[in-house]
Amino acid sequence: MSIKPLKELSTLVSLCKRRGFIFQSSEIYGGLNSCWDYGPLGAQFKLNVKMSWWREMTRRADIVGLDAAILMHPTVWKASGHVDGFSDPLVDCKACKHRFREDTAMVDGKVTCPKCGSTDVTESRSFNLMFKTHMGPVDNEGAVVYLRPETAQGIFVNFENVATSMRKKIPFGIAQIGKSFRNEITPGNFTFRTREFEQMEMQYFVKPGTDEEWFEHWKEVRWSYYGKLGLNQEKLRYKEHGPDELAHYAKAAFDVQYEFPFGWQELEGVHNRSDFDLSQHQEFSGKKLEYFEEASKDRFVPYVIETAVGCDRLALALLCDAYREEPEQDNRVVLGLRPELAPVKVAFLPLSKKPELQELSQKLHQQALEHWEADYDETASIGKRYRRQDEIGTPLCVTVDFDSLEDQKVTVRHRDSMAQDRVAMDQLHSYVGDKLRNW
Ligand code: GAP
Repeated sequence: MSIKPLKELSTLVSLCKRRGFIFQSSEIYGGLNSCWDYGPLGAQFKLNVKMSWWREMTRRADIVGLDAAILMHPTVWKASGHVDGFSDPLVDCKACKHRFREDTAMVDGKVTCPKCGSTDVTESRSFNLMFKTHMGPVDNEGAVVYLRPETAQGIFVNFENVATSMRKKIPFGIAQIGKSFRNEITPGNFTFRTREFEQMEMQYFVKPGTDEEWFEHWKEVRWSYYGKLGLNQEKLRYKEHGPDELAHYAKAAFDVQYEFPFGWQELEGVHNRSDFDLSQHQEFSGKKLEYFEEASKDRFVPYVIETAVGCDRLALALLCDAYREEPEQDNRVVLGLRPELAPVKVAFLPLSKKPELQELSQKLHQQALEHWEADYDETASIGKRYRRQDEIGTPLCVTVDFDSLEDQKVTVRHRDSMAQDRVAMDQLHSYVGDKLRNW
């Protein structure tokens, strides 16, 4: 069967709006640039993505979770290097007044306006990407706090608390999911680059000297995670950062890249952050952040291997990857998500609007809701309702028809093959559970 993958991002953007995955933020006011709201299905889908990452990370003996505050002591960002170093070089085009990043606009060695092509531009100036706000009622410099631009620092400053309270021995990791904010100069491509986004980061603390080995280990573990999510392996690759691309904290870095409809782009960063962050916090806070290794009697500041992925960006990659059109099936649109990621696992569809069929379907729907995200739909023709469920990635549809009232059986339709099975109602729970688990 021939399949047409996603070609244009705009196709997905309109599906997301039409089907309640993602809406433009503040749309009735004309929208707010680069901000997006997750609708009912998008919120559930994103939660499923987060749960898959959380389970992968924290269902291990050597990693624990954390949920740190977004607002942190301002000195954190001085110590981390973000106040002085987290900036982009910004220039203005004198011809068309367009403002852009100098480092992404070089043509034949000259800074060239990406909008009008003029090379008549202003001197570049450094633009810090952190959002500033004020704490308390006084709006002055002394009250400045930042919205965190990465979740990682919440983990570093809690290293001692977590190690002590959880009796963790090195090597061990701390995982966290949370919002981050960056005043990006060029946000865009839907939810790919936004100014408010969610990160899923894990910092793994290791003994200096073992860091390169652990770095390789985490590269492999993260690669296998994307396989488990069902992402097309041909659209994934690792790309190493050259010396001039490394972030201020990194000793080595690899990006997991995904081929989006707009090209190969970073999905996740795997970084060797050395002892940069803990040493900096030790210096700025005056608190010792050393680890004492009982067996060797060694005392050291741990090195950190970090895995950092944007939840919104991963969700977007999964949607792009899952989207397909089937020309031989009347251009059926399917989101081929793995069941654990699909926002609805099973939908209940009475064949017609006859009260007996509605009642039975609703009863089965209620029973299913105790176990899975389940939908009930009685509008439009059965064919249209199947298509609607295909488009949101629902793995199974259960149809109740007139025979069901007699033989106590229902029809279960499979999203991918469209095959239909007749299943006894008292077997439905184990049938659905089994199919979802062994997809
Ligand atoms: N703690 C390390 C760190 O934050 P990063 O490479 O700057 O590293 C990690 O960010 C991940 O966060 C990226 O790979 C990307 O998935 C996501 N991310 C970063 N900036 C983003 C933005 N403006 N919008 C959406 N996701 C973003």
